Amino acid sequence: MANNQNQSLPIGYELQDYKIKKVLSAGGFSFVYLASDPGKNTVAIKEYLPTALALRKEGDQIVVPTAEASGSFRHGLKSFFEEGRALANINHRNIVRVINFFRANETVYMVMQYERGKSLQEYILSHNEPVSENFLRRVFTELLNGLREVHTQKLLHLDIKPANIYIRLDGSPVLLDFGSARQTLDDALPRLPPSYTPGFAPPEQYTDRKLLGPWSDIYSIGATMYSCLTRATPLAASERIKKDTMIPAEKLGKDIYSENLLRIIDNCMALDHLERPQSIYALQKSLQKDIPSAPQAEDRKHGFIDKIMHLLQKEI
Ligand SMILES: Nc1ncnc2c1ncn2[C@@H]1O[C@H](COP(=O)(O)OP(=O)(O)O)[C@@H](O)[C@H]1O
Ligand SMILES: [Mg+2]
Repeated sequence: MANNQNQSLPIGYELQDYKIKKVLSAGGFSFVYLASDPGKNTVAIKEYLPTALALRKEGDQIVVPTAEASGSFRHGLKSFFEEGRALANINHRNIVRVINFFRANETVYMVMQYERGKSLQEYILSHNEPVSENFLRRVFTELLNGLREVHTQKLLHLDIKPANIYIRLDGSPVLLDFGSARQTLDDALPRLPPSYTPGFAPPEQYTDRKLLGPWSDIYSIGATMYSCLTRATPLAASERIKKDTMIPAEKLGKDIYSENLLRIIDNCMALDHLERPQSIYALQKSLQKDIPSAPQAEDRKHGFIDKIMHLLQKEI
């Protein structure tokens, strides 16, 4: 969890029709609260409050942009609102459901369906072994159904990573946090602090944003699957373009995942965007094709995990 020096809204605070119950998350970009609606249903509310651009003082509810950042703050605010509007049009079980969004306290709020579960990041770290191939194929096939819908709506997510994928209690995935998607809406305006995540962002997110496309989210999907295997953050694309010392999944995951799956992961993480699957549909087709039986659990115990742990030190 990133450090946020800003104050959250107080517990019990009445925000229009909603009552704040608890802070779920305090990131550098926003707060996420657990709240209840007038019908006593539980919802999650995300509040736009980028630490770098605005402050809320203790005991106050109003958000005040810092003088030099007021242009960027307003631009971000507008984009957050647009993000809410775009997401509100998407009704898919694997995409976080936006119920409402509104302005208050000089900022913007996005009310979402509250999802019970844990992030894929927590899921990965709570196991001592790589996520199983069956789990990975199932979760990603479902997640890609949602992502396909996002791309159909001409949105790119641009921050797919284990922390932004929620695994519900029934095991189904839901894609959260479209905080970076808004940045594709109008690139001519002042930039917000970049919100991409090293290790998961494709090279074009650092170098040439004109090259962004569905294949950019596909890189992040590949990097997320790679981290399911290694339980670590992949080498950042900005490093890989200088000197690519990343060990391919095909080499690292031998005897853990099928060759077919490992090749898909490496293919998604190709530095050249043209070498990756060009659409979610193409990726889904290859994920569903040639599904081999996963290597036996017994095989896994014979030191393969140790080998990986030895090769990688950084945890996600
Ligand atoms: N709809 C939701 N239901 C339950 N928890 C949520 C929901 N949205 C966000 N969260 C929690 O808040 C955290 C941060 O949300 P996210 O949208 O990723 O914001 P940020 O921009 O701060 O990363 C998530 O990892 C999750 O724990
Ligand atoms: Mg997030």
